[in-house]
Amino acid sequence: MCGIVGYVGKQEAYPLIIGGLRRLEYRGYDSAGVALGGEKGLRVYKRRGKVDDLETFVEKKDVTGTIGIGHTRWATHGVPDDRNAHPHLSHDASIAVVHNGIIENFRILKTDMESRGHTFLSDTDTEVVAHLIEDVRNAAGVPFPEAVRLALKEVVGAYAIAAISADDPDTLVVARKGSPLVIGIGEDEYLVASDASPIAEHTRRVVYLDDGDMAVIRCGAENPEIMAIDDGVSHSPAIREIEFKLESLAKEGYSHFMEKEIFEQPKTIRDSMRGRLNPKTGEVKLGGLSDYFNKLAEAERIVIVACGTSFYAGILGEYLIERIAGVHVEVEYASEYRYRHPLIRKGDFVFAISQSGETADTLAAIRLAKEAGAYAFGICNVVGSSIARETVAGVYTHAGPEIGVASTKAFTAQVTVLSLIALALARRRRSLPEAELLRLAKELDSVPDKVAAALETRSACRELAEDISQLRDVYYLGRGVCYPVALEGALKLKEVSYIHAEGYPAGEMKHGPIALIDENMAVVTVAPLTEVHDKILGSIQEVKARKGKVYAIVTEGDTETAALADRSVAIPQIDELFVPFVAVIPLQLISYFVAVLLGRDVDRPRNLAKSVTVE
Ligand code: AGP
Ligand code: GLU
Repeated sequence: MCGIVGYVGKQEAYPLIIGGLRRLEYRGYDSAGVALGGEKGLRVYKRRGKVDDLETFVEKKDVTGTIGIGHTRWATHGVPDDRNAHPHLSHDASIAVVHNGIIENFRILKTDMESRGHTFLSDTDTEVVAHLIEDVRNAAGVPFPEAVRLALKEVVGAYAIAAISADDPDTLVVARKGSPLVIGIGEDEYLVASDASPIAEHTRRVVYLDDGDMAVIRCGAENPEIMAIDDGVSHSPAIREIEFKLESLAKEGYSHFMEKEIFEQPKTIRDSMRGRLNPKTGEVKLGGLSDYFNKLAEAERIVIVACGTSFYAGILGEYLIERIAGVHVEVEYASEYRYRHPLIRKGDFVFAISQSGETADTLAAIRLAKEAGAYAFGICNVVGSSIARETVAGVYTHAGPEIGVASTKAFTAQVTVLSLIALALARRRRSLPEAELLRLAKELDSVPDKVAAALETRSACRELAEDISQLRDVYYLGRGVCYPVALEGALKLKEVSYIHAEGYPAGEMKHGPIALIDENMAVVTVAPLTEVHDKILGSIQEVKARKGKVYAIVTEGDTETAALADRSVAIPQIDELFVPFVAVIPLQLISYFVAVLLGRDVDRPRNLAKSVTVE
């Protein structure tokens, strides 16, 4: 989702803000803008398009100033154009605001202010916040930071906000409710941003602003002043160290982050297991769950809530935990969970799976679960993210920053953590014989090497991508553990190539979708050797009988399936339960190559955002 950057200090703000916005580009956006403050008063420059377009636009303009805010917008209210781009100004143009999220009561506030003579220049919900701050400041006669606080008390919705004022040129005010904000503390300077990536190159000391808090950040002050938006009561900031390495933000010789992240997977899966799995003894240690592990091991059911790719990892979690640990698991779309009035029992265990840890739907789902008395656990990649902080316990996936909007390494890291949870629960619950658990632990330990071998399918996937890039529609079929893999393969293809793709359980094809099969339809069948292999062969025959094209992912040595398919990609053999790790690799590669062949914006596909912080 959109990005916010702010700076106050002794250096020129503009280059730092632009650099920061570039770091946040991966999140997806449609327009960009900056507001600069200081002696020369407020100057706002904003443009539809990329940060590059903004840079071209400001070429001959005055971009001096040691305080400023910047924004990359992902439109929710009003089309993406220059007018609706952020920052937005107050009526008297003395206050500039950037905002991430949605102001739900903006219409009432806007109508009220319009009746009192305010004129608005955009269709956004954000502009009302700038006007409201001015309104409150004038009516209550309070300083700018307090005016921001009082204004936000009137606002209903989700936001991260940064604001500066011409009347208070050394002060940057930021606030969060629902959308993340990180404050970097440097030498005589502060850099704020939607996540730590723009900050890491300047300082490693950060404060993750808590939900419902705001910060008044003054040039020269030793620390930001943190207070609750509700009552204005200050509390001391919790200063932490940024954990990730800067190199992880670079492409390191790859053409795209997506490519780099696909190829990093042997390492990231290993990182997810590091210190947790002992393949010699089969022991699994998950420090983040230890306080609750005894209770969890007795759970009658576990509920998993997640969206998109994380949801598909959740379905794999269901297979793994039910099969290995014998605990009943339900997986729910987080976006539906809240609205279907779910039956949550006190003491239920609800796991939220989220790469970003900021997905609004997932956050809302665990808040609901918590209110109903459930234990909310997180499986997140981003350290210090909202979901990580709002859950009582959890396991970080440790995949490192994922920059490509299409999730790849985060998915396999999530499945790794779910496999570890399944094994840990199984040991405690004695759901499988010790020898079988040890065998599975060894097999899981072999996953990084098998994934490395699966990455060798690169050229075969590239060739297959040439065929797929000519198509308009593609089915992805899988059965058993390969069904969620098929869903993920289809999502990946549509996200980055814009080709229509549907994932289906192979057995369901005959119940409807088969009507679409003819010589123009292609089916990618995830058909490695598993207990349902014969059934999958049946589905392939059904497609072929109707002249559909079949592309198959097969196990090395399975010449029979390969011979049936028009083209095939062979992946290494591995225990059935861990087949998804290796089967998903060619699907990721195929989507990547199709996107490259079609000239798509691979790392920042249209209309998508890396973390979806609106409902
Ligand atoms: C994955 O490729 C997608 N971009 C998307 O489906 C994503 O998985 C979903 O929005 C959930 O995000 P999260 O894991 O950060 O919560
Ligand atoms: N709701 C605001 C708008 O449409 C902010 C969107 C965003 O998060 O970028 O302008």
